[in-house]
Amino acid sequence: MTPSRTPLRTRLRTLLTGAAATATTATLLLAAPATAADPPLRDLATTKAKVIGTAVTGSKLTATYGDLAGTQFNSLTPGNAMKWESVEPTRGTYNWTEADQIVAFAQAHNQQVRGHTLVWHNQNPAWLTNGTWTPAQLGTLLQDHITTEVTRYKGKLAAWDVVNEPFNEDGTYRPTIWSDNLGTDYIAKALTWARAADPTAKLYVNDYNVEGVNAKSTALYNLVKSLKERGIPIDGVGLQAHLILGQYPSSLQQNIQRFADLGVDVAITELDIRMQLPSTDAKLTQQAVDYKAVVDACVAVTRCVGVTVWGFTDSDSWVPDVFDGYGAATPYTENFTPKPAYYAIAQSFGGTPSAEGCAATYSVPSQWNTGFTGQVTITCSPGRSLSSWKVSWTYGAGQRVTQAWNATCAQAGASVTCVNASYNGTVPSGGSVSFGFNGTWSGNNPVPTVTLG
Ligand code: XIL
Repeated sequence: MTPSRTPLRTRLRTLLTGAAATATTATLLLAAPATAADPPLRDLATTKAKVIGTAVTGSKLTATYGDLAGTQFNSLTPGNAMKWESVEPTRGTYNWTEADQIVAFAQAHNQQVRGHTLVWHNQNPAWLTNGTWTPAQLGTLLQDHITTEVTRYKGKLAAWDVVNEPFNEDGTYRPTIWSDNLGTDYIAKALTWARAADPTAKLYVNDYNVEGVNAKSTALYNLVKSLKERGIPIDGVGLQAHLILGQYPSSLQQNIQRFADLGVDVAITELDIRMQLPSTDAKLTQQAVDYKAVVDACVAVTRCVGVTVWGFTDSDSWVPDVFDGYGAATPYTENFTPKPAYYAIAQSFGGTPSAEGCAATYSVPSQWNTGFTGQVTITCSPGRSLSSWKVSWTYGAGQRVTQAWNATCAQAGASVTCVNASYNGTVPSGGSVSFGFNGTWSGNNPVPTVTLG
Protein backbone atom coordinates (compact mmCIF):
# COMPACT_ATOMS: atom_id res chain seq x y z
CA MET A 1 0.00 0.00 0.00
CA THR A 2 1.54 3.29 -1.02
CA PRO A 3 0.22 6.67 -0.03
CA SER A 4 -2.47 8.04 -2.28
CA ARG A 5 -0.96 10.92 -4.17
CA THR A 6 -3.35 12.30 -6.75
CA PRO A 7 -5.25 14.65 -4.45
CA LEU A 8 -2.01 16.27 -3.33
CA ARG A 9 -0.93 16.88 -6.90
CA THR A 10 -4.28 18.33 -7.75
CA ARG A 11 -4.09 20.65 -4.78
CA LEU A 12 -0.54 21.59 -5.67
CA ARG A 13 -1.49 22.51 -9.21
CA THR A 14 -4.25 24.70 -7.88
CA LEU A 15 -1.79 26.37 -5.58
CA LEU A 16 0.71 26.99 -8.32
CA THR A 17 -1.83 28.26 -10.79
CA GLY A 18 -2.66 30.90 -8.23
CA ALA A 19 1.04 31.76 -7.89
CA ALA A 20 1.53 32.07 -11.64
CA ALA A 21 -0.94 34.91 -11.91
CA THR A 22 1.14 37.10 -9.61
CA ALA A 23 4.59 36.38 -11.07
CA THR A 24 6.42 39.14 -12.90
CA THR A 25 7.65 36.78 -15.53
CA ALA A 26 4.73 34.68 -16.58
CA THR A 27 6.64 31.53 -17.43
CA LEU A 28 6.51 29.08 -14.57
CA LEU A 29 7.34 25.45 -14.88
CA LEU A 30 6.23 22.75 -12.52
CA ALA A 31 8.91 20.43 -11.31
CA ALA A 32 8.19 16.97 -12.59
CA PRO A 33 6.66 15.18 -9.60
CA ALA A 34 8.41 11.96 -8.70
CA THR A 35 6.43 9.10 -10.16
CA ALA A 36 8.09 6.18 -8.40
CA ALA A 37 6.55 5.27 -5.06
CA ASP A 38 8.78 5.87 -2.06
CA PRO A 39 10.23 2.62 -0.76
CA PRO A 40 8.44 1.37 2.38
CA LEU A 41 9.90 2.54 5.67
CA ARG A 42 11.17 -0.95 6.48
CA ASP A 43 13.29 -1.04 3.30
CA LEU A 44 14.74 2.37 4.05
CA ALA A 45 15.45 1.41 7.68
CA THR A 46 17.22 -1.74 6.52
CA THR A 47 19.64 0.31 4.47
CA LYS A 48 20.68 1.94 7.75
CA ALA A 49 20.71 -1.42 9.61
CA LYS A 50 17.83 -0.20 11.78
CA VAL A 51 14.48 -1.63 12.74
CA ILE A 52 11.29 0.35 12.25
CA GLY A 53 8.49 -1.03 14.36
CA THR A 54 4.96 -0.28 15.42
CA ALA A 55 2.71 -1.26 18.28
CA VAL A 56 -0.32 -3.12 16.98
CA THR A 57 -3.75 -4.33 18.03
CA GLY A 58 -4.26 -7.92 16.87
CA SER A 59 -7.94 -7.58 15.95
CA LYS A 60 -7.15 -4.76 13.51
CA LEU A 61 -4.55 -6.61 11.43
CA THR A 62 -6.67 -6.82 8.27
CA ALA A 63 -7.46 -4.53 5.32
CA THR A 64 -5.52 -1.26 5.16
CA TYR A 65 -4.31 -1.47 8.77
CA GLY A 66 -2.90 -4.95 8.20
CA ASP A 67 -1.49 -3.99 4.84
CA LEU A 68 0.42 -1.02 6.24
CA ALA A 69 1.54 -2.84 9.39
CA GLY A 70 2.89 -5.68 7.26
CA THR A 71 4.54 -3.69 4.50
CA GLN A 72 5.89 -0.56 6.16
CA PHE A 73 7.33 -2.04 9.38
CA ASN A 74 9.78 -4.82 10.11
CA SER A 75 9.01 -5.12 13.81
CA LEU A 76 5.78 -5.39 15.78
CA THR A 77 5.12 -4.82 19.46
CA PRO A 78 1.78 -6.02 20.85
CA GLY A 79 0.23 -2.87 22.32
CA ASN A 80 -1.56 -4.79 25.07
CA ALA A 81 -1.74 -8.46 24.11
CA MET A 82 1.27 -9.69 26.10
CA LYS A 83 0.55 -7.79 29.32
CA TRP A 84 -0.23 -9.89 32.37
CA GLU A 85 -3.92 -8.93 32.53
CA SER A 86 -4.30 -9.95 28.88
CA VAL A 87 -2.61 -13.33 29.07
CA GLU A 88 -3.79 -14.49 32.51
CA PRO A 89 -7.02 -12.65 33.33
CA THR A 90 -8.01 -15.41 35.75
CA ARG A 91 -5.40 -17.17 37.81
CA GLY A 92 -4.19 -20.23 35.94
CA THR A 93 -6.34 -19.54 32.87
CA TYR A 94 -4.29 -18.27 29.99
CA ASN A 95 -5.44 -16.49 26.89
CA TRP A 96 -2.77 -16.29 24.25
CA THR A 97 -5.11 -15.66 21.33
CA GLU A 98 -4.12 -12.11 20.43
CA ALA A 99 -0.45 -12.51 21.30
CA ASP A 100 -0.21 -15.66 19.18
CA GLN A 101 -2.01 -13.93 16.33
CA ILE A 102 0.44 -11.03 16.33
CA VAL A 103 3.45 -13.36 16.44
CA ALA A 104 2.02 -15.40 13.54
CA PHE A 105 1.35 -12.23 11.54
CA ALA A 106 4.90 -11.06 12.16
CA GLN A 107 6.35 -14.38 11.05
CA ALA A 108 4.23 -14.31 7.90
CA HIS A 109 5.53 -10.83 7.12
CA ASN A 110 9.16 -11.49 8.00
CA GLN A 111 9.02 -9.16 10.98
CA GLN A 112 10.59 -9.13 14.41
CA VAL A 113 8.50 -9.05 17.56
CA ARG A 114 9.28 -7.09 20.71
CA GLY A 115 7.60 -8.73 23.67
CA HIS A 116 5.93 -6.17 25.91
CA THR A 117 5.95 -6.46 28.92
CA LEU A 118 6.61 -8.96 31.72
CA VAL A 119 6.90 -6.93 34.93
CA TRP A 120 4.98 -3.71 35.37
CA HIS A 121 2.82 -1.91 37.92
CA ASN A 122 -0.02 -1.39 35.41
CA GLN A 123 -2.36 -3.73 33.58
CA ASN A 124 -1.92 -6.55 36.02
CA PRO A 125 -4.89 -8.88 36.58
CA ALA A 126 -7.23 -8.03 39.46
CA TRP A 127 -6.68 -11.44 41.04
CA LEU A 128 -3.02 -10.52 41.42
CA THR A 129 -3.31 -6.94 42.59
CA ASN A 130 -6.27 -7.60 44.90
CA GLY A 131 -4.81 -10.77 46.38
CA THR A 132 -3.05 -11.04 49.71
CA TRP A 133 0.40 -12.50 49.24
CA THR A 134 3.55 -12.99 51.18
CA PRO A 135 6.70 -11.72 49.47
CA ALA A 136 7.74 -15.33 48.87
CA GLN A 137 4.43 -16.08 47.19
CA LEU A 138 4.70 -12.98 45.02
CA GLY A 139 8.21 -13.97 44.01
CA THR A 140 6.97 -17.38 42.94
CA LEU A 141 4.02 -15.88 41.06
CA LEU A 142 6.35 -13.54 39.19
CA GLN A 143 8.84 -16.26 38.38
CA ASP A 144 6.07 -18.53 37.10
CA HIS A 145 4.56 -15.73 35.02
CA ILE A 146 7.86 -14.87 33.39
CA THR A 147 8.81 -18.48 32.82
CA THR A 148 5.44 -19.39 31.33
CA GLU A 149 5.20 -16.44 28.96
CA VAL A 150 8.82 -16.31 27.85
CA THR A 151 8.85 -20.07 27.29
CA ARG A 152 5.73 -19.87 25.13
CA TYR A 153 7.48 -17.52 22.71
CA LYS A 154 10.95 -18.96 23.12
CA GLY A 155 13.05 -18.44 20.01
CA LYS A 156 10.34 -16.35 18.36
CA LEU A 157 10.94 -12.90 19.83
CA ALA A 158 13.80 -10.54 19.13
CA ALA A 159 13.50 -8.81 22.47
CA TRP A 160 11.50 -8.57 25.69
CA ASP A 161 10.71 -5.45 27.64
CA VAL A 162 11.26 -7.46 30.79
CA VAL A 163 10.76 -4.65 33.29
CA ASN A 164 8.64 -1.62 32.45
CA GLU A 165 8.76 1.78 34.12
CA PRO A 166 10.70 0.99 37.31
CA PHE A 167 11.65 4.58 38.15
CA ASN A 168 10.10 7.75 39.53
CA GLU A 169 10.88 11.06 37.84
CA ASP A 170 13.56 11.89 40.45
CA GLY A 171 15.39 8.64 39.80
CA THR A 172 14.25 6.81 42.91
CA TYR A 173 12.59 3.45 42.50
CA ARG A 174 8.87 3.55 41.94
CA PRO A 175 6.94 1.93 44.76
CA THR A 176 5.04 -0.97 43.19
CA ILE A 177 3.70 -4.35 44.18
CA TRP A 178 7.11 -5.69 43.11
CA SER A 179 9.55 -3.26 44.69
CA ASP A 180 7.44 -3.04 47.87
CA ASN A 181 7.42 -6.79 48.37
CA LEU A 182 10.55 -8.12 46.71
CA GLY A 183 12.84 -5.12 47.03
CA THR A 184 14.42 -3.44 44.05
CA ASP A 185 16.28 -6.62 43.19
CA TYR A 186 13.06 -7.86 41.57
CA ILE A 187 14.59 -6.35 38.43
CA ALA A 188 17.68 -8.56 38.53
CA LYS A 189 15.55 -11.59 39.35
CA ALA A 190 13.14 -10.92 36.49
CA LEU A 191 15.99 -10.57 33.99
CA THR A 192 17.60 -13.78 35.24
CA TRP A 193 14.34 -15.75 34.97
CA ALA A 194 13.69 -14.37 31.50
CA ARG A 195 17.16 -15.35 30.30
CA ALA A 196 16.70 -18.86 31.66
CA ALA A 197 13.47 -19.28 29.71
CA ASP A 198 14.74 -17.88 26.40
CA PRO A 199 18.47 -17.44 26.02
CA THR A 200 18.15 -15.75 22.59
CA ALA A 201 15.74 -12.88 23.25
CA LYS A 202 17.42 -9.57 24.04
CA LEU A 203 16.38 -8.43 27.49
CA TYR A 204 15.46 -4.79 28.08
CA VAL A 205 14.46 -2.43 30.84
CA ASN A 206 12.04 0.12 29.41
CA ASP A 207 10.90 3.50 30.76
CA TYR A 208 9.50 6.91 29.81
CA ASN A 209 11.00 10.37 30.32
CA VAL A 210 14.43 8.77 30.03
CA GLU A 211 15.08 10.06 26.51
CA GLY A 212 17.26 13.00 27.50
CA VAL A 213 20.01 13.11 30.09
CA ASN A 214 18.18 13.70 33.37
CA ALA A 215 17.81 12.29 36.88
CA LYS A 216 15.57 9.45 35.74
CA SER A 217 17.74 8.35 32.81
CA THR A 218 20.80 8.59 35.05
CA ALA A 219 19.09 6.23 37.50
CA LEU A 220 18.48 3.85 34.60
CA TYR A 221 22.09 4.24 33.57
CA ASN A 222 23.30 3.41 37.08
CA LEU A 223 20.98 0.41 37.25
CA VAL A 224 22.29 -0.99 33.96
CA LYS A 225 25.86 -0.37 35.05
CA SER A 226 25.38 -2.23 38.31
CA LEU A 227 23.50 -5.10 36.62
CA LYS A 228 26.34 -5.53 34.18
CA GLU A 229 28.90 -5.44 36.96
CA ARG A 230 26.99 -8.18 38.75
CA GLY A 231 26.71 -10.32 35.62
CA ILE A 232 22.93 -10.03 35.50
CA PRO A 233 21.66 -10.50 31.92
CA ILE A 234 20.75 -7.07 30.49
CA ASP A 235 21.01 -6.41 26.77
CA GLY A 236 19.33 -3.11 26.23
CA VAL A 237 17.37 -0.13 27.39
CA GLY A 238 14.10 1.00 25.91
CA LEU A 239 13.42 4.72 25.70
CA GLN A 240 9.66 4.95 25.28
CA ALA A 241 9.64 8.48 23.83
CA HIS A 242 6.06 9.57 24.40
CA LEU A 243 6.87 13.14 23.45
CA ILE A 244 5.03 16.44 23.24
CA LEU A 245 5.12 18.59 20.11
CA GLY A 246 8.12 20.91 20.07
CA GLN A 247 9.67 19.35 23.17
CA TYR A 248 12.27 17.14 21.54
CA PRO A 249 14.93 16.40 24.18
CA SER A 250 18.09 17.87 22.72
CA SER A 251 20.35 15.49 24.66
CA LEU A 252 18.70 12.40 23.12
CA GLN A 253 21.66 11.36 21.00
CA GLN A 254 24.10 11.97 23.84
CA ASN A 255 21.92 9.87 26.12
CA ILE A 256 21.68 7.02 23.60
CA GLN A 257 25.44 7.18 23.21
CA ARG A 258 26.16 6.90 26.93
CA PHE A 259 24.10 3.71 27.16
CA ALA A 260 25.82 2.36 24.06
CA ASP A 261 29.19 3.13 25.68
CA LEU A 262 28.07 1.10 28.69
CA GLY A 263 27.74 -1.90 26.39
CA VAL A 264 24.00 -2.21 25.90
CA ASP A 265 21.68 -1.73 22.94
CA VAL A 266 19.18 1.09 22.87
CA ALA A 267 15.74 1.01 21.30
CA ILE A 268 13.22 3.80 20.93
CA THR A 269 10.27 1.66 21.92
CA GLU A 270 7.06 3.70 21.97
CA LEU A 271 7.55 6.86 19.96
CA ASP A 272 4.63 9.19 19.56
CA ILE A 273 4.53 12.99 19.48
CA ARG A 274 1.27 14.42 20.69
CA MET A 275 -0.16 17.84 19.97
CA GLN A 276 -3.05 19.80 21.31
CA LEU A 277 -6.03 19.23 19.04
CA PRO A 278 -7.04 20.33 16.53
CA SER A 279 -4.01 19.53 14.43
CA THR A 280 -2.95 22.25 11.97
CA ASP A 281 -0.50 22.26 9.08
CA ALA A 282 1.96 24.20 11.21
CA LYS A 283 1.74 21.62 14.02
CA LEU A 284 2.10 18.74 11.58
CA THR A 285 5.21 20.40 10.16
CA GLN A 286 6.68 20.83 13.64
CA GLN A 287 5.80 17.20 14.37
CA ALA A 288 7.72 16.10 11.28
CA VAL A 289 10.76 18.06 12.45
CA ASP A 290 10.49 16.39 15.87
CA TYR A 291 10.06 12.88 14.44
CA LYS A 292 13.05 13.41 12.19
CA ALA A 293 15.20 14.56 15.09
CA VAL A 294 14.34 11.43 17.09
CA VAL A 295 15.00 9.02 14.24
CA ASP A 296 18.17 10.91 13.25
CA ALA A 297 19.50 10.46 16.79
CA CYS A 298 18.95 6.71 16.57
CA VAL A 299 20.48 6.49 13.10
CA ALA A 300 23.55 8.33 14.39
CA VAL A 301 24.40 5.72 17.04
CA THR A 302 25.32 2.22 15.91
CA ARG A 303 23.96 0.53 19.03
CA CYS A 304 20.56 2.15 18.64
CA VAL A 305 18.73 -0.80 17.09
CA GLY A 306 15.72 1.10 15.87
CA VAL A 307 12.53 2.98 16.47
CA THR A 308 9.06 1.66 17.26
CA VAL A 309 6.07 3.98 17.01
CA TRP A 310 3.29 3.47 19.54
CA GLY A 311 0.62 2.91 16.94
CA PHE A 312 1.22 3.95 13.33
CA THR A 313 -2.19 5.54 12.81
CA ASP A 314 -4.06 8.09 14.89
CA SER A 315 -6.98 5.64 14.89
CA ASP A 316 -4.90 3.26 17.04
CA SER A 317 -3.23 5.66 19.46
CA TRP A 318 -3.60 5.70 23.22
CA VAL A 319 -3.04 9.45 23.35
CA PRO A 320 -6.60 10.84 23.05
CA ASP A 321 -7.79 8.43 25.76
CA VAL A 322 -5.12 9.41 28.23
CA PHE A 323 -4.04 13.00 27.54
CA ASP A 324 -7.04 15.28 27.56
CA GLY A 325 -7.24 17.46 24.45
CA TYR A 326 -4.20 15.88 22.80
CA GLY A 327 -3.94 13.59 19.79
CA ALA A 328 -2.67 13.26 16.21
CA ALA A 329 0.50 11.74 17.66
CA THR A 330 1.35 9.09 15.05
CA PRO A 331 2.75 9.16 11.47
CA TYR A 332 -0.58 8.38 9.74
CA THR A 333 -3.99 10.02 10.03
CA GLU A 334 -7.00 8.05 11.21
CA ASN A 335 -7.74 7.42 7.52
CA PHE A 336 -4.27 6.02 6.87
CA THR A 337 -2.96 9.04 5.00
CA PRO A 338 0.74 9.49 5.70
CA LYS A 339 1.46 12.73 7.54
CA PRO A 340 4.58 14.89 7.22
CA ALA A 341 5.94 12.82 10.12
CA TYR A 342 5.84 9.72 7.92
CA TYR A 343 8.00 11.39 5.28
CA ALA A 344 10.30 12.71 7.97
CA ILE A 345 10.95 9.16 9.20
CA ALA A 346 11.59 8.08 5.62
CA GLN A 347 14.03 10.92 5.19
CA SER A 348 15.92 10.02 8.37
CA PHE A 349 16.43 6.55 6.98
CA GLY A 350 17.90 7.97 3.78
CA GLY A 351 14.77 8.38 1.69
CA THR A 352 15.09 11.32 -0.64
CA PRO A 353 13.15 14.36 0.44
CA SER A 354 10.60 13.41 -2.15
CA ALA A 355 9.36 16.02 -4.57
CA GLU A 356 5.94 14.41 -4.37
CA GLY A 357 3.52 16.97 -3.02
CA CYS A 358 6.18 19.67 -3.18
CA ALA A 359 7.46 21.45 -6.27
CA ALA A 360 9.96 24.07 -7.32
CA THR A 361 9.24 26.91 -9.73
CA TYR A 362 11.78 29.03 -11.56
CA SER A 363 11.11 32.57 -12.62
CA VAL A 364 13.06 35.58 -13.90
CA PRO A 365 11.76 38.64 -12.08
CA SER A 366 14.17 40.97 -13.88
CA GLN A 367 16.50 40.90 -16.85
CA TRP A 368 18.82 43.43 -18.53
CA ASN A 369 21.32 43.41 -21.43
CA THR A 370 23.74 40.78 -20.10
CA GLY A 371 22.37 39.92 -16.70
CA PHE A 372 19.27 38.72 -14.93
CA THR A 373 17.91 37.95 -11.49
CA GLY A 374 16.36 34.53 -11.04
CA GLN A 375 14.14 33.20 -8.30
CA VAL A 376 13.15 29.69 -7.31
CA THR A 377 10.25 29.01 -4.98
CA ILE A 378 9.68 25.62 -3.37
CA THR A 379 6.09 25.05 -2.37
CA CYS A 380 4.59 22.13 -0.45
CA SER A 381 0.93 21.28 -0.57
CA PRO A 382 -1.00 20.82 2.68
CA GLY A 383 0.07 17.64 4.42
CA ARG A 384 3.55 17.60 2.90
CA SER A 385 6.68 19.31 4.07
CA LEU A 386 10.43 19.15 3.64
CA SER A 387 13.18 19.48 6.20
CA SER A 388 15.88 20.01 3.57
CA TRP A 389 15.83 20.57 -0.17
CA LYS A 390 17.91 20.49 -3.30
CA VAL A 391 16.91 22.03 -6.61
CA SER A 392 18.71 21.46 -9.88
CA TRP A 393 18.37 22.48 -13.48
CA THR A 394 20.31 22.55 -16.72
CA TYR A 395 20.73 25.75 -18.73
CA GLY A 396 20.07 25.45 -22.42
CA ALA A 397 21.60 28.72 -23.66
CA GLY A 398 24.90 29.18 -21.85
CA GLN A 399 23.56 31.07 -18.84
CA ARG A 400 25.70 31.18 -15.72
CA VAL A 401 24.79 31.74 -12.10
CA THR A 402 27.15 34.31 -10.61
CA GLN A 403 25.80 34.79 -7.11
CA ALA A 404 23.01 33.26 -5.00
CA TRP A 405 21.28 34.16 -1.74
CA ASN A 406 19.23 32.06 0.64
CA ALA A 407 20.76 28.93 -0.95
CA THR A 408 24.14 27.53 -1.81
CA CYS A 409 24.43 27.09 -5.57
CA ALA A 410 27.11 25.44 -7.66
CA GLN A 411 27.36 25.26 -11.42
CA ALA A 412 29.32 22.72 -13.45
CA GLY A 413 29.00 23.19 -17.19
CA ALA A 414 25.33 23.79 -17.79
CA SER A 415 24.18 22.00 -14.59
CA VAL A 416 23.21 24.05 -11.57
CA THR A 417 22.47 22.59 -8.14
CA CYS A 418 21.24 24.63 -5.21
CA VAL A 419 20.73 23.38 -1.66
CA ASN A 420 19.08 25.08 1.27
CA ALA A 421 20.96 27.41 3.57
CA SER A 422 21.30 26.35 7.20
CA TYR A 423 18.25 28.40 8.15
CA ASN A 424 15.70 27.66 5.42
CA GLY A 425 15.67 23.88 4.91
CA THR A 426 12.17 23.57 6.31
CA VAL A 427 9.37 24.05 3.82
CA PRO A 428 6.23 23.85 5.92
CA SER A 429 3.11 22.01 4.94
CA GLY A 430 1.11 24.35 2.72
CA GLY A 431 3.96 26.89 2.68
CA SER A 432 6.93 27.91 0.58
CA VAL A 433 10.58 28.98 0.65
CA SER A 434 12.33 31.07 -2.02
CA PHE A 435 15.89 31.78 -2.97
CA GLY A 436 17.37 34.12 -5.51
CA PHE A 437 20.41 34.48 -7.73
CA ASN A 438 22.03 36.68 -10.31
CA GLY A 439 23.15 35.29 -13.63
CA THR A 440 24.54 36.18 -17.01
CA TRP A 441 23.05 35.46 -20.40
CA SER A 442 23.53 36.31 -24.03
CA GLY A 443 21.40 35.63 -27.05
CA ASN A 444 18.39 34.34 -25.20
CA ASN A 445 17.52 33.34 -21.63
CA PRO A 446 15.02 30.48 -21.72
CA VAL A 447 13.53 29.22 -18.45
CA PRO A 448 14.92 25.77 -17.59
CA THR A 449 13.00 22.83 -16.18
CA VAL A 450 13.81 22.54 -12.49
CA THR A 451 13.90 19.35 -10.47
CA LEU A 452 13.33 19.17 -6.75
CA GLY A 453 14.89 16.39 -4.72
C1 XIL B 1 -0.92 1.63 26.61
C2 XIL B 1 -1.78 1.07 25.50
O1 XIL B 1 -1.39 1.64 24.28
C3 XIL B 1 -3.24 1.35 25.77
O2 XIL B 1 -4.06 0.72 24.80
C4 XIL B 1 -3.61 0.84 27.15
O3 XIL B 1 -4.95 1.21 27.44
C5 XIL B 1 -2.69 1.43 28.20
O4 XIL B 1 -1.34 1.13 27.86
N1 XIL B 1 3.73 2.88 28.31
C6 XIL B 1 3.73 1.54 28.01
C7 XIL B 1 2.62 0.96 27.21
O5 XIL B 1 4.71 0.86 28.30
O6 XIL B 1 2.36 -0.36 27.55
C8 XIL B 1 1.37 1.78 27.31
O7 XIL B 1 0.42 1.25 26.41
C9 XIL B 1 1.66 3.23 27.05
C10 XIL B 1 2.63 3.79 28.04
